[in-house]
Amino acid sequence: MDRTRLASAALLATLIVVAWLHTTAQASGRSQKQQEDAEFIERLINQMTVEEKAGQLSQLGMDMTPSGPVIGIEGRKTIAEVGSVIGVYGAEVTRKLQREAVQKSRLHIPLLFSYDVIHGFRTVFPVPLAEASAWDPDLSQRTARAAAVEATASGLHWTFAPMVDIARDARWGRIVEGGGEDPFLGAALAAARVRGFRGKEVPDTSTILSTAKHFVAYGAAEGGRDYNSADMSERTLEEIYLTPFRAAVQAGVDAIMPGLNEVNSTPMHAHRNLLKKKLRDEWGFQGLVISDYWGVHGLMEHGVASSTHQAVRLAFNATVDIDMVGGHYADELPALVRNGLLPLPLLDDAVRRVLQAKQRLGLFDDPYRYSDPSREALIPAPQMRALAREAAQKSIVLLKNNDALLPLPKNLRKLVVVGALANDALSTMGPVPAEGRPNESITVLAGIKQAALPETEVVYIPGASPKSSDISGIDEAQRAARDADVVVAVLGETQDMSGEARSRASLDLPGAQNALLTHLINTKKPVVVILMNGRPLAIPSIDEQVPAILESWFLGSEMGNAVADVLFGDISPSGKLPITFPRSVGQVPIYYAHKKTGRPSSKTDYFTSKYLDEDWQPLYPFGHGLSYTTFTYGTPKLSKQRLKVEETLIVQIEVSNSGQRAGEETVQLYLRQNVASITPQVRQLRGFSKVRLSPGETRTVEFMLAPENWASLNEYLSPSVESGTFTLFVGGSSVTDNQANFEVTTRSAPLTSHGL
Ligand code: BGC
Repeated sequence: MDRTRLASAALLATLIVVAWLHTTAQASGRSQKQQEDAEFIERLINQMTVEEKAGQLSQLGMDMTPSGPVIGIEGRKTIAEVGSVIGVYGAEVTRKLQREAVQKSRLHIPLLFSYDVIHGFRTVFPVPLAEASAWDPDLSQRTARAAAVEATASGLHWTFAPMVDIARDARWGRIVEGGGEDPFLGAALAAARVRGFRGKEVPDTSTILSTAKHFVAYGAAEGGRDYNSADMSERTLEEIYLTPFRAAVQAGVDAIMPGLNEVNSTPMHAHRNLLKKKLRDEWGFQGLVISDYWGVHGLMEHGVASSTHQAVRLAFNATVDIDMVGGHYADELPALVRNGLLPLPLLDDAVRRVLQAKQRLGLFDDPYRYSDPSREALIPAPQMRALAREAAQKSIVLLKNNDALLPLPKNLRKLVVVGALANDALSTMGPVPAEGRPNESITVLAGIKQAALPETEVVYIPGASPKSSDISGIDEAQRAARDADVVVAVLGETQDMSGEARSRASLDLPGAQNALLTHLINTKKPVVVILMNGRPLAIPSIDEQVPAILESWFLGSEMGNAVADVLFGDISPSGKLPITFPRSVGQVPIYYAHKKTGRPSSKTDYFTSKYLDEDWQPLYPFGHGLSYTTFTYGTPKLSKQRLKVEETLIVQIEVSNSGQRAGEETVQLYLRQNVASITPQVRQLRGFSKVRLSPGETRTVEFMLAPENWASLNEYLSPSVESGTFTLFVGGSSVTDNQANFEVTTRSAPLTSHGL
């Protein structure tokens, strides 16, 4: 098609669309403003050349350098030729670049500035895996909101978060960026973060566009090796990996980013079946799909495209709207449309989605509204630090506490802190700290020093580091430990040992840390281990030898203060693991919601599902986490023992604080259908609720189980209900045996479990 014919075809299409908009607006009762907005976009599309349209679908990579922002190495376009930019922020810089884009582009279309704002911007909150340990969607919504407030004050419009990948293999480095192993908890956190990034229903200048990533099964990489293939049944995809994405879409997420992986032999950037059919057609997602970094290009590496031309066709046909950084859309789309290989209306659909996002943020009214230096000067605001401390406190999990060694008294004579991580400010912020600054982050050592009373001597000897096998510092640490009342060993991984492209084949403590710990234990002094890490570690020997272990992950700007709050008992720990801790790497993938098998694991039965050289059970189960107080549970009371499919079940459970201190418990409800035509999981999380109790206090916690809980996907993957008995478990972790049974009957006469 030549240029003139293309232009007249476009004009006709616009006239039809505008006329159609008028009629549907009248019919749908769309407001005058919405009507005008829609017409504005259509008029704009009509004026655009195919090159300009392809530009809107291209994202330019930029880098911040000391001399100012520069276009990244892959960029072949100028700022005025693209629709969005990744990698720059700052009110002044974005204002300047925006001016360039608006003034130099023919149609004065503003840019979107985007960045990975994963768990805070300037104020760093706990890494997502840590924050998932709080089991607190409200908290996750508030930290996402705070991140949005700070990031937008720096001119950013769009974040590539939340990452909602389910992950069950601790070797995978990006496990740190997600919400853990469970789709129910993951879905709740995904939706909360989307709401938090958006803020008010009607966007204001603190609204940041959100992106659920990486669609889908990126966390199921074979061997736990990043970017590796995922091969799985449609059922597992539906039940496990798609669930948090569905929740994000229902919560109104603005964008979806496909993963760099392939699923069942099709790279996600070309996966029409999952992107077009599932996401767009089935779920009705109308937002943006943005490629991952260089993801369109990657289709050639995957071996499904032999040229950039072919890669673009595949990605675009799979409804990937924007090419992040690669530049191939800008290069190839115009010719593909002109040659009739891609229909113009499809190009317009993608462009419309980009322009609508800009319009939603009010950028056509004022392209500079996010780039306000006076607002930027107010960050980081003091209240952000308070929220960071609260989030960090709530994310700490007490894994073990023999003989109530913790909390420590504040008036110890001598406290010896060891481990290079104790004084590693960079690591407090985790692998993706956005604009977080190490000098604004409180280390564990600084937090302890600040909290200890003046009469306590706090001695710090690094001893050993995760990064080196050098054992020369261990003797000094041991000498100091010999004279300590208590030794606090801060052990784990540095921040660059998890995250993208950082998979590990071992889940042990790296470097010389095990040797250090052995020497500390040999002193026979009480040793508390504080773990800092981005993944579950396999630490059975620590568990055997050390009386108290706190899992503190990477907790962000207020890490040291929060750890000290818990260590000295100003706060009782309340975190619960969002992921199973294996005993050894050979157990992975390991997760609580597994199938029973035809030979369920048993110590006494030889021919059952287990290992010769390892326990089959994890070290710490999903949902595990102790407190400085103890909680006791009554037996679950059910509103009915026998209910019809459409009825709701009310479950009440008494929870008491049977210890000496106030504390918060996360009450967890799991469900299992005992016999079904499709093998059930041994249990699945179906509810959780946090309750704060004073010593001696008892409260009744109530769960309402809705009919969708009786449904499961039948052999044709359609939701269906089979009559049968269910067992529900309520308690403080996934291994609770506090249970009750009930029966669900379908309307007709009860069927057998196989519907025969
Ligand atoms: C990562 C994405 C990230 C993007 C932009 C990619 O390598 O996989 O999660 O959003 O880079 O930084």
